[in-house]
Amino acid sequence: MAAEPARLVVLISGRGSNLQAIQAAIEAGRLPARIAAVVSDRPQAAGLNHAARHGLDTVMIEPARFPDRSAFERALMTAIDGFDPRFIVLAGFMRVLGRELVQHYLGRMLNIHPSLLPRHRGLHTHRRVLDAGEHEHGASVHFVTPDLDAGPVISQARVAVRPGDTADALAERLLPLEHLLYPATLALLLKHRVELHHDSTHLDDTPLRQPLLLDRDLGRDGGLLDAGHGR
Ligand code: GRF
Repeated sequence: MAAEPARLVVLISGRGSNLQAIQAAIEAGRLPARIAAVVSDRPQAAGLNHAARHGLDTVMIEPARFPDRSAFERALMTAIDGFDPRFIVLAGFMRVLGRELVQHYLGRMLNIHPSLLPRHRGLHTHRRVLDAGEHEHGASVHFVTPDLDAGPVISQARVAVRPGDTADALAERLLPLEHLLYPATLALLLKHRVELHHDSTHLDDTPLRQPLLLDRDLGRDGGLLDAGHGR
């Protein structure tokens, strides 16, 4: 009997284009997983419509309905754990999560951040890249640890900054790369080749010295390309 695909729980707050890309990769057979549930903290999150169209279970956990952050996060954990996911995938989830929750999922919770971490943690990354006069921008997939956007990076995709770029233009050019990077990275994680060990990303049980770069080290289907892949 074929093994059951790994369960993912995807957390969103908005548009949900990364959610859609992950779902599309699953449907195309590039990601041996199943989205067990989409959890949102915002009822107006557009990604919920996508989830509904695809018949995915959705769960709404609105912070305003809880007396404090810790009650909200307990409810979030209970909801997530109810689906027994292998990985918890933050995809535009616009909330800083507390230490207890993050520790509970350490090594199993991932995020995609629109910058070449460790540069530009936090918000408004596209604007900040332009303001700093940088020539290169990108996105990073990383393990979530208690410090915001500071968890060990697994993979990155890069995009060149062009003369006259605006923050919107940069964001628009980066997004399709995010949509390739996240499913490819998840595919690699599902193969057990990448793991979090002692605060660093390990590839095949060896610490990763630099993030895997999409299309140089990491293939779009989550295979490793043979250029030394960051080790
Ligand atoms: C993406 O740019 C992602 O890097 C960041 O939030 C945005 C989410 O977009 N974390 P979407 O909701 O997946 O379309």
